[in-house]
Amino acid sequence: MIVSTNDIFKTAYGKFAVGAYNINNLEQTMGLFQGCLDSQAPFIIQISKGARSYTHKTMLEGLIRSAEQVFPDAVFAVHLDHGDEETCYDCIESGFYSSVMIDASHEDFEENIAITRRVVDAAHAKGIAVEAELGQLGGVEEDISVSEADAKLTDPNTAREFVERSGCDSLACAIGTSHGAFKFSGTQGLHFEVLQEIQKNLPNFPLVMHGSSSVPQDEVERINRAGGNLQGAKGVDDKQFKDAAKMGVTKVNIDTDGRLVWTRVHREHFMEHPENFDLRKPGKVFMAEYAKFIADKNEKLGSAGSLSEIRQNSKPL
Ligand code: G3H
Ligand code: 13P
Ligand code: ZN
Repeated sequence: MIVSTNDIFKTAYGKFAVGAYNINNLEQTMGLFQGCLDSQAPFIIQISKGARSYTHKTMLEGLIRSAEQVFPDAVFAVHLDHGDEETCYDCIESGFYSSVMIDASHEDFEENIAITRRVVDAAHAKGIAVEAELGQLGGVEEDISVSEADAKLTDPNTAREFVERSGCDSLACAIGTSHGAFKFSGTQGLHFEVLQEIQKNLPNFPLVMHGSSSVPQDEVERINRAGGNLQGAKGVDDKQFKDAAKMGVTKVNIDTDGRLVWTRVHREHFMEHPENFDLRKPGKVFMAEYAKFIADKNEKLGSAGSLSEIRQNSKPL
């Protein structure tokens, strides 16, 4: 059942965070739905601009609609990840998305508000929620590169004004994470002191943490042993998710970790079975391993076991 992102947030706020997982293909979709049902968790499916052009936006929509039939007990929202204005309007028009993210965080404060406001007006007219971003994450977001050194944490003093003037429904905050497999160079970590201040200024308002993959070290070692080269890869400590959830983090974005599972499974498979050229063999292993990964992540987020509560409090879109 596809539901409103805001309905999920209302139930989850302050209690647990909901995993927002990116999908690009059939195998990720199957593993995601299976893992969320195994852990009885609601979830948010994210589609990036890159995913929409890797396959085709209609293909992804078809995959999700089919998954809804194959897994009728699943309760989830569909979300555009890191949209620009044009892509947001396309998703709003499609009638398929529960929410869109307008990422104008690279613009100055006033321009970020103006762009976000335009998207909010169009989205709210159709009952669709909007995530905006204030502050800049380190690393690479789509085609915008922001060096770790220049990463700008969200300013808690302007967060409230930003939300009030833009009208957004949730706010992606920069609190020290970055996208990809190489986070926290030097002594950086999550800036809970910034998060606490943001929550003080925006009580009961859902906050979003991007760049939240934990980059498990055993996964990295297995990839490297099977011929990969991800020396120095490092992620977010997933024991911190529950504390972050108490401070208002309601959506936690995870993409890289899923890519690591895919890479490990395929590297190991082809190393151990050099004679194989049947794509379904590693594909089958990946779907099962990805489902296990998702179920474990939902435990760490605190969303595991909340499916029936979310179902009761959410209407189908
Ligand atoms: O934040 C970006 C997400 O990990 C999506 O990545 O743009 O390569 O699909 P992508
Ligand atoms: P990771 O690269 O840490 O998985 O972050 C994904 C993300 O923020 C998608 O918007
Ligand atoms: Zn992101």
